[in-house]
Amino acid sequence: MKHSLSERRLRSNPILQKLTREVRFSVDQLIQPLFAVEGIKEREIIPGLTGVFRDTPTTLLKQVESDLEKGVNSFLVFGVPAGKADQHFNYDFTASQLHALKKRFGKDIFLSVDVCLCSYTSHGHCGILNDAMDHVMNHESVEALAKAALAYAQAGADCVAPSDMMDHRIRAIRNILDENHLDQTLIMSYSAKFHSGFYGPFRVAADSAPKGDVKLKNRATYQIDPANPSDAYRCSVRDAEEGADILMVKPGMPYLDVLQDLSSRIPLPWAVYEVSGEFAAIELMAEKNLISRERAHLEAWTAFFRAGANMVITYGARSAREWINA
Ligand code: PBG
Repeated sequence: MKHSLSERRLRSNPILQKLTREVRFSVDQLIQPLFAVEGIKEREIIPGLTGVFRDTPTTLLKQVESDLEKGVNSFLVFGVPAGKADQHFNYDFTASQLHALKKRFGKDIFLSVDVCLCSYTSHGHCGILNDAMDHVMNHESVEALAKAALAYAQAGADCVAPSDMMDHRIRAIRNILDENHLDQTLIMSYSAKFHSGFYGPFRVAADSAPKGDVKLKNRATYQIDPANPSDAYRCSVRDAEEGADILMVKPGMPYLDVLQDLSSRIPLPWAVYEVSGEFAAIELMAEKNLISRERAHLEAWTAFFRAGANMVITYGARSAREWINA
């Protein structure tokens, strides 16, 4: 005898739907980005990133306080200094923000910090340029990045997260941390970071778009080509060998195949970054009543966990509970 249909039987009521759900997540697995901006008097909104701000030192502390009430306890700080330079950068502002956060919240928060030079350089590139200003110099940039990572770790960051895409920065950072008795500080590597068109709103927030009279107009000579998943694999293997504790795929939605493939091949915790353009796409559609904000955000996060992520960096972390309960 032929069986009656069974697929729909398993979908037939809400209790059963929840019992049989294969992918689950909670706010514990989300990381909230924060922008700490020097030299502004009031916090500023960021076009496209609803509910996210460029914070002053004062509003930054208030923001984290309110985030803790919403169950968020993991953060990724982007420091945006007022003064820009071409080399010999000053990491004090970002370090002071990390110090203030740790002094106030201690072990109640897990504090990661983005390590890159794009908010520090006058031209907006992620490293130091040669004299002709047509090439990012790897060695010099790695030295500066390692110094930044050390300053942040000494200020109290639990985890440093290099997003620059220079070669061998993980080894340099692990070495400098270990030499300075910071062997418990974690490294989360943006190991599979692509040269994406989805970073727009972030670059406004972090004041980090390539700019000025520079021959090098984009980041294609250091970020991974979207068409090259094997480059992302090689970089991730290398970063794991050099001492990264957590690896990352970035952006998220357009790279689910990469996330699934790499997370199944390399046995480390995997983060995925739902970048500013992905998040803003949902927000802008929701503003026009074209989609349900909650459903779309939750669906995107579900896809990340389904594809193998252990944690998601998302601008919506602080809204997660509200959306999950909606
Ligand atoms: C810095 C950095 C970028 C992002 C995180 N760290 C932008 C870039 O590479 O230009 C993007 C984050 C986002 O779009 O949300 N290198």
